[in-house]
Amino acid sequence: SVDISTFTRQTGHTTLDYGFVNTSATKSAVTFIDGDKGILRYRGYPIEQLAQNSSYLEVAWLLLYGELPTVDELGQFDERIRRHTLLHEDLKRFFPALPHTAHPMSVLSSAVSALSTYYENQSDPHNPEHVELNTVRMLAKLPVIAAYAHKKSVGQAFLYPDNSLSFVDNFLKLNFGVLSEVYEVNPVMSRALERLLILHEDHEQNASTSTVRLVGSTGANQFSSISAGINALYGPLHGGANEAVLEMLGRIRDSGESVQRFVERVKNKEDGVKLMGFGHRVYKNYDPRAKLVKESADEVLEALGISDPLLDLAKELEQIALEDDYFKERRLYPNVDFYTGVIYKAMGFPTRMFTVLFAIGRLPGWLAQWREAINDPQTKIGRPQQLYTGAPARDYPGLSS
Ligand code: ACO
Repeated sequence: SVDISTFTRQTGHTTLDYGFVNTSATKSAVTFIDGDKGILRYRGYPIEQLAQNSSYLEVAWLLLYGELPTVDELGQFDERIRRHTLLHEDLKRFFPALPHTAHPMSVLSSAVSALSTYYENQSDPHNPEHVELNTVRMLAKLPVIAAYAHKKSVGQAFLYPDNSLSFVDNFLKLNFGVLSEVYEVNPVMSRALERLLILHEDHEQNASTSTVRLVGSTGANQFSSISAGINALYGPLHGGANEAVLEMLGRIRDSGESVQRFVERVKNKEDGVKLMGFGHRVYKNYDPRAKLVKESADEVLEALGISDPLLDLAKELEQIALEDDYFKERRLYPNVDFYTGVIYKAMGFPTRMFTVLFAIGRLPGWLAQWREAINDPQTKIGRPQQLYTGAPARDYPGLSS
């Protein structure tokens, strides 16, 4: 690898790299990916082991501080987060101002931006106490905001967080509990959601994380940076793909078109149609997260006693695609988004909440990467070059009549 910034300054030469396919913008010690071998590790630990054995908050600590927490550290972290789950009552009045048709991702990013207004005197990116406090605030409050975005979209009353419950159980209750009724957390659902959140916690310099780091490089606070990351995640080529996959499966089922015919349309790039949930910039082998999600999909649906034809359709699509030269030559495999939607649907989340769930999962990674950038003395304001292709210099002629 070459550090090109000095070279550029000294020679005036620059590189043109659409989509940053071959450009590292930073060094990072958080997450390792080997896309050819299908390997993903957080701070050196294989994703498979973390998904099997740890919890969302344990992994969040690992990403933030570089080592696994001790039992005491995790207990105190959990306790601190439980104490910060409440939203200011005034912020709750933000939600009714938006139409009930508002997409929960837009509600989420706007509310996170709005959240910063309550902590303007405690948001200095270079004050470690502020950074710690806002890390905890964000981890505690994002799930509550997410659940309120959900409740708003279905027209139900907001519940207060139940801080006697674990992080994930509290989130499930906020989403599916109803005022004046007892809510029993289903342990299968709870464990499955925890696993999915862990699988999403970080993924090195993807589009939303790069956005968080870029915005952070301007000196913007954590709330502004994370809000920008949520907006980047919303796009269908990134986190929005989990919603797009389910819509694609639903359209295939409803149209009566055969899976084979749909795949032909993808290969012919008819109307730009893509196989959503397939392909990845880095993985040129099976995405290790997708492997785990696929296993989970079967287990969860069986445990919840649900049979969903869309899962069968997804498997059929995968089977056909993996045997087809178009996908083989381009090394296109299912990514993390291909099977998650089927599980979220079985849990009872509406399709428009899927990317919001991704955002909750990704939050610890965004925070960890933002902190890494802030603490790296080599971080500079992100400011790509361009190759100018516009008009040459010319004189202003005045408006023509
Ligand atoms: N369906 C059909 N063809 C595809 C797909 C797909 N899902 N993905 C890539 N291709 C094709 C491209 O058309 C291109 O073909 P060509 O060489 O004939 O022009 C070739 O494979 C290479 O693809 P690129 O677009 O250059 O790959 P890139 O790395 O830029 O894009 C991306 C990666 C955006 C993920 C892409 O694979 C895609 O759009 N997938 C569908 C959306 C999706 O699932 N996104 C989620 C990604 S995971 C995440 O963000 C959490």
